Amino acid sequence: MKRVFALLVAGLVVCLAGTALAEGPHDLNCMDCHTTHYAKGDYAFGVQPKVMMNPARTRTSADIDSLDALCLGCHNDETGIKPIKMHTTHPTSIRPVSAKVPAKLLWDGKLTCVSCHNPHPSNANSKYLVVQTKGAGMGTFCAVCHPDQSSPEIMKKMSSVVIHSDAAQAPIVQVTGVKAAPKATPVVKKPAPAPAKAPAPAPAKPTAPAAKPADMPY
Ligand code: HEC
Ligand code: HEC
Ligand code: HEC
Ligand code: HEC
Repeated sequence: MKRVFALLVAGLVVCLAGTALAEGPHDLNCMDCHTTHYAKGDYAFGVQPKVMMNPARTRTSADIDSLDALCLGCHNDETGIKPIKMHTTHPTSIRPVSAKVPAKLLWDGKLTCVSCHNPHPSNANSKYLVVQTKGAGMGTFCAVCHPDQSSPEIMKKMSSVVIHSDAAQAPIVQVTGVKAAPKATPVVKKPAPAPAKAPAPAPAKPTAPAAKPADMPY
């Protein structure tokens, strides 16, 4: 009997370990994302963060935010868990210019994945969005930050919309290094005005000894 029980337990452990990431949303285990002693990213994150670029970043010159890198630690092509294509994604990892983003959705002044998603099991909203879109429709979600583009009908509904987000606090546990490759990935390309510019300064400019024309950031 004892042995049967032990086998059952062992089987259960194997099952849980095997399905921890494949089973479903984030509800299974806090430790799928966090770790108490072996942080690999900010917020005591246990998953290896991944830096991927979003084109919007080049417009506002903001660094990739660590929070986005945390989510991308799982939601990338290699792990295959609902991968996000950053080069075709709505602006993220940026400081808003014209959108009216509520302050509590900005992390260190930036729009990130968690401005739109609250990943915690306490959030019962569809797709972990910060507002419930099921029934209400996507319009109320967009209107949280884009009231100028939203219809009067949607704006009337906004007074009853509940935003489910964590208090946007800076991380206590910070792991540096993951942000170390913020410059470029193949998905973001600069337009390419370089060839036209390069020949011009060559003939008559004795003042710039250290300027290499090939010194492009990308
Ligand atoms: C899908 C990944 C994920 C899972 C699963 C997860 N967390 Fe988090 N957690 C995060 C991220 C990202 C942050 C930082 C942003 C935030 O607070 O929303 C965070 C932040 C926190 C914070 C700090 C909140 C703050 O405002 O500073 C606490 C506490 C926390 N998590 C506890 C938990 C607990 C407890 C569980 C399990 C019930 C859990 N987390 C499950 C991703 C996750
Ligand atoms: C430990 C790995 C892991 C991390 C880190 C993680 N997720 Fe997930 N996420 C999952 C898994 C597993 C699923 C379910 C995939 C499936 O159903 O195919 C999921 C599903 C989702 C979904 C879809 C939920 C649904 O109901 O369809 C959203 C949205 C999401 N994650 C957002 C985020 C955001 C935002 C972050 C960062 C705060 C994050 N995830 C971090 C593992 C992770
Ligand atoms: C949490 C805030 C937030 C939410 C919610 C949000 N956006 Fe945005 N959106 C922004 C920010 C910030 C920008 C970047 C422009 C700026 O800096 O003001 C932006 C930009 C855009 C742009 C311009 C993209 C470009 O390339 O110029 C479009 C289109 C857009 N959002 C559509 C939507 C739609 C549709 C939804 C709902 C599905 C939505 N947004 C939800 C904050 C948000
Ligand atoms: C402007 C708001 C916004 C931002 C920023 C944002 N998302 Fe989303 N995300 C959405 C919406 C809206 C959906 C649901 C789309 C739908 O249901 O068609 C979604 C869906 C998802 C899904 C589920 C995809 C699926 O196939 O079900 C994942 C995973 C996800 N987002 C991860 C992320 C990650 C990771 C980031 C940061 C890199 C991020 N999101 C940033 C609004 C956003």
